Amino acid sequence: MWGYFRICPHPRISGNNFRVFHDDGLIGKEMNSEANKKNNESRKAVPVTVAYGDGIGPEIMEATLRIIKAGGANLDLETITIGESVFKKGITSGIEPSAWDSLRRTRVFLKAPITTPEGGGFKSLNVTVRKTLGLFANVRPCLSYYPFISTKHHDMDVVIIRENEEDLYGGIEHRQTADVFQCLKLISIPGSERVIRYAFEYARRYNRHKVTCFTKDNIMKLTDGTFRRIFDDVAREYPDIESEHWIVDIGAAKLADSPEVFDVIVMPNLYGDILSDVAAQIAGSVGLAGSSNIGDGFAMFEAIHGSAPRRAGQNLANPSGLLLAAVQMLVYIGQGDVATKVHNAWLKTIEDGIHTYDIFDPAVSRKKVGTKEFADAVIDNLGEYPQQLKSVNYPPHGNPLKIKLVERPAPSKELVGVDVFVDWRGSADELGKQLDEVSKPEFQLVMITNRGTKVYPGGIPDTFCVDHWRCRFQSATSGQPVTHRNVIDLFGRMVDAGIPPIKTEGLFTFDGEPGFSLGQGQ
Ligand code: IPM
Ligand code: MG
Repeated sequence: MWGYFRICPHPRISGNNFRVFHDDGLIGKEMNSEANKKNNESRKAVPVTVAYGDGIGPEIMEATLRIIKAGGANLDLETITIGESVFKKGITSGIEPSAWDSLRRTRVFLKAPITTPEGGGFKSLNVTVRKTLGLFANVRPCLSYYPFISTKHHDMDVVIIRENEEDLYGGIEHRQTADVFQCLKLISIPGSERVIRYAFEYARRYNRHKVTCFTKDNIMKLTDGTFRRIFDDVAREYPDIESEHWIVDIGAAKLADSPEVFDVIVMPNLYGDILSDVAAQIAGSVGLAGSSNIGDGFAMFEAIHGSAPRRAGQNLANPSGLLLAAVQMLVYIGQGDVATKVHNAWLKTIEDGIHTYDIFDPAVSRKKVGTKEFADAVIDNLGEYPQQLKSVNYPPHGNPLKIKLVERPAPSKELVGVDVFVDWRGSADELGKQLDEVSKPEFQLVMITNRGTKVYPGGIPDTFCVDHWRCRFQSATSGQPVTHRNVIDLFGRMVDAGIPPIKTEGLFTFDGEPGFSLGQGQ
């Protein structure tokens, strides 16, 4: 029987006094001041669900918990088992119902990286948790620690706020013909609005001066276009914060080249996934970035890197990503004083040149240490501040950002036609001629496109075509609505003609505006 259980405090860190071990032996410094003791006594333990994960997960989680407890975190931990071992039992989601019970009870999740087994049938657990709990904003601070960690970017301090539930991450994919596969990109108005508002609220709360939006709205005018339009609308409500939009390709190039010109960047899910790795890596290492996944009353905290199975079990891994995620968690649950202490101790350790292998550079590092020894060094530095790097100071009491969406009246929606996708091995003209006949009497065939490019009427023979065609039918009486019954009758005629639909999309207008794109070349 799998499930959650209360974790027993590690004997070395139970109680308020313990010893710190260095890699060169026992130093014997007593930790946890009176103040810590008092704080812990007066503060109620906050229930948190913890998953030790796969690969390097258990090592970095152990190190992280040891550090934050030494810093005075008062947590009531429930441990759940998720990931590889659960997948291997044949549970394709990688998570069991009892684990959901724990998450729904604590509403705070500290998660180590997990491994999703390769091969078909297994869903990404990260994505399942984010989407199931409605964790809409993925906050990924990427900053450089120059000159203590090698980087070309000395003044980089960028926070990427990634939309976390939508876009291509719905994982709604189909093979439709011998040639063609598709993945649906879904962008919603409320989904975009809440992450964009979150980005502006975050900027205000943390005194950041600018929010940038990245999209590809020159190509995806309806999906990315909606994200951008909402960004522009919301930005007007925050005149105190500068706002700007970049097309994602050139924006990404600028980010990689001159990250210091950016502050907070908000973007749809997939761009955010890719660019947060780029940003973290150019800041110094993807191994240093922690993230929070924020929902409405739920939050999950994790490193942005994966489970690195090749490094597992060797006391090599850098726990910093997960530790900085745990710092964000402490701020979220109202233990900001502990977050401040832990984060400053970590900065001091980085400054001391005590580095794990991944960031070790003889030019700047002083001592190469393993996971455990790194944790010991951070614990030893609790109460210390960095000398050169900027120290942090979090508000002592949690006050999670609350996002309120604007109410939008439902637009009037009218069916004006249908796009029918068909599997056809032949020429565009032959298909067009047959469908011209089939369209009558209610519809006219307006166009056929192949992978979005118009090939009928008036295509040219040079356009490369595959076996997947989108045929657009609109009302035979221009501008007039059609009925669903008309559409079903059209499908019937197509089936009779031996050209059955493989997929259809209704063409709707919303308050008179077309809710569909034109084909390329139209
Ligand atoms: C991340 C990861 C995940 C993602 C994977 C593991 C599903 O890359 O958290 O950035 O794509 O979101
Ligand atoms: Mg990623």
